[in-house]
Amino acid sequence: MLRQHISDRSFLVAESRARRLDVSRDAYARHWMPPTRLSAVASLWDDFSREVYPHDDLELAIRNRFFLDRLQGFAAAHEDAAFVNVCAGLTSYPFLLERPIPCFECDLPHVVRFKQRRMAELSSSGILPRRSVSFLGLDVLREDGRHQIQSLLDTKLANRPTFVLLEGVSYLLNFGVLEALFDVFREGQSPGSQVAMDFWMPDLRQHPVFLRLQKFFGTHFGFPAQDYCLFDREWIGRIRRYRMLESSSVSSSEQSYAASTVLSNEREILPENYALLERLS
Ligand SMILES: C[S@@+](CC[C@H](N)C(=O)[O-])C[C@H]1O[C@@H](n2cnc3c(N)ncnc32)[C@H](O)[C@@H]1O
Repeated sequence: MLRQHISDRSFLVAESRARRLDVSRDAYARHWMPPTRLSAVASLWDDFSREVYPHDDLELAIRNRFFLDRLQGFAAAHEDAAFVNVCAGLTSYPFLLERPIPCFECDLPHVVRFKQRRMAELSSSGILPRRSVSFLGLDVLREDGRHQIQSLLDTKLANRPTFVLLEGVSYLLNFGVLEALFDVFREGQSPGSQVAMDFWMPDLRQHPVFLRLQKFFGTHFGFPAQDYCLFDREWIGRIRRYRMLESSSVSSSEQSYAASTVLSNEREILPENYALLERLS
């Protein structure tokens, strides 16, 4: 991979999780990268760290732990739980769960092809434990792509409690697509199911780290500066038939997972927020 596209960000975030295994607990993070790509990814990460902010390793490790904990809790509470990871990138959740549950990962077709191939290699060499992971190559910007997620929820996962994760991507989409995705989740999730997501708030627009990130994503991934989708808790609160179970931020989660205060200066971090929603009956 590494094709100067926004999907390359999935390598950067895997590298971040790998650099703080103590917090992320993602022992497989670096394995997703083929050995021939390791130094290219490390050097891209160093550029990002120098040009944007130096805390991506800690921030992404905390984010991984936050969502892993919520997913573990959901799997423990529901015998027939299933996990749907939308825009899954190179995350390792199916392999980190204490109790294996059926997992479905959606991403752009070239990312899914890459990950499937790598998963086969890592499983046959005994690095990854055997898990039930199915892949859907699709584009969530397209109606036919979202329809594939709808069919999955409506057929294979009908009436099962599902945990849908939308991580690292809400700000790369747009309101129309986010609303259409929630239409799909609302239609396909049974009451008591959950959606977990992270989001960036509108006051980020003048934030120095965000301005540098916009520039970096523009030059390295060709992602246009005007295309970020920023929203607040009120917007999430208006999503019909979901209620907010929990909301948190990377800086307030730092003490739970890292016992440090490196992220306490809001001007030097990328202020990410997390939300956990429950589908109402
Ligand atoms: C920043 S990465 C986050 C990956 C992963 N969720 C994580 O948190 O590590 C964004 C992911 O969204 C995927 N993505 C971006 N646009 C997409 C689209 N239109 N349809 C499907 N996947 C998309 C990218 O390929 C990439 O894997």
